[in-house]
Amino acid sequence: MAKRILITGHRGYIGSVMVPYFLRAGYEVQGADTGFFERCLLGPGGGEVAGHGVDLRDGLTARDLEGTDAVIHLAALSNDPIGNLNKHWTREINGEASVRLALLAREAGVSRFLFSSSCIMYGAAGGGETEVDENSPLDPRTQYARSKVEAEHALRPLASATFSPVYMRNGTIYGLSPRMRFDTVLNSLAGSAVARGSVRVFSDGKPWRPVVHVEDVCAAFHAALEAPREAVHNEAFNVGAAEVNVQIGTLARHVAEASGAALELLAQADADQRSYRTSFAKIARHLPGFRLQWSPCAGAQRLVREFRALGLSMGQFDDARFTRLRWLRKLLEEGALGEDLRWQANRQCSARGERAEAEEVMA
Ligand SMILES: NC(=O)c1ccc[n+]([C@@H]2O[C@H](COP(=O)([O-])OP(=O)(O)OC[C@H]3O[C@@H](n4cnc5c(N)ncnc54)[C@H](O)[C@@H]3O)[C@@H](O)[C@H]2O)c1
Repeated sequence: MAKRILITGHRGYIGSVMVPYFLRAGYEVQGADTGFFERCLLGPGGGEVAGHGVDLRDGLTARDLEGTDAVIHLAALSNDPIGNLNKHWTREINGEASVRLALLAREAGVSRFLFSSSCIMYGAAGGGETEVDENSPLDPRTQYARSKVEAEHALRPLASATFSPVYMRNGTIYGLSPRMRFDTVLNSLAGSAVARGSVRVFSDGKPWRPVVHVEDVCAAFHAALEAPREAVHNEAFNVGAAEVNVQIGTLARHVAEASGAALELLAQADADQRSYRTSFAKIARHLPGFRLQWSPCAGAQRLVREFRALGLSMGQFDDARFTRLRWLRKLLEEGALGEDLRWQANRQCSARGERAEAEEVMA
């Protein structure tokens, strides 16, 4: 069993939940993250483990990875709007840096490399009418989606007798994290219900999406780490189970029922038309140890309870810290990040003060 793992992107939304998950499961965990969202904290916690503060485009060496059994590679520019902001950054970070990291890992003798991929690569395949599985044609519609397809494609030939890449194709993820995101669908619906008192859907509600709780994502990655090599070697998996396929309108109704908030359907001409229902037969077959805990309905109820317990305010819900694109734009405008999306020299001294400021906003 892999016991010593490196989680990249450990100071992001998923990473901040996944680090404590694997620590509780008895793993020795290290992190590697450039810290774009370091100070984007909502509530306590945040993956405080030994970590490398590095940009994975050129940080880390094979030596840093020696003695590591497995790498979980979460670090990425992680949504469509960021890809549209600058295609080059998304290609460089999500694609080229992923291949670079996999090569270093292979050189260092790491045996398993879990790549955090996305069901977004199915695009509008089937229009929600038919199910897409891991062999379905890919239809990446955005730079972000293309970067995931390109990365999977480039990682595949690196597989060897001693190195097993695995492609974990996640649906849209939801659930509370210390480094929260409100720019994903269920987090946004539930956040709006609690903070604003209404659930807003910016489409006709018909598109299908798989929505998966962040803790279930952790459990799926755990199962992929523990599985025998032949079950996962160079394989792609849609992460979830049948019940996570849901239409956005149904999801919104779950949130409205859980919260008592009003439901507003605000159909927009330019609404996101991605729609796909996903088959999860393969993950059930290859990773029988993985059991989904949270249905979208139960997950929506849980989120509403958690946001209420936090006293989620409109100020927090609408804070740039919790929308990836807005936060990166702010860092760019302030000059904290340069044109190559790297930290500028004065970052170290300002970061400490800003972290204190972030903690005040949370309180
Ligand atoms: N959140 C979702 O709904 C979702 C769905 C499908 C797939 N994924 C994938 O899961 C992974 C994690 O997603 P997330 O929601 O936690 O994203 P996130 O934006 O919250 O976290 C990503 C982390 O990667 C780090 N990072 C970015 N570029 C880096 C670089 N060059 N060097 C080092 N670190 C860098 C950031 O600082 C950040 O902490 C991503 O690969 C994403 O594409 C997420």
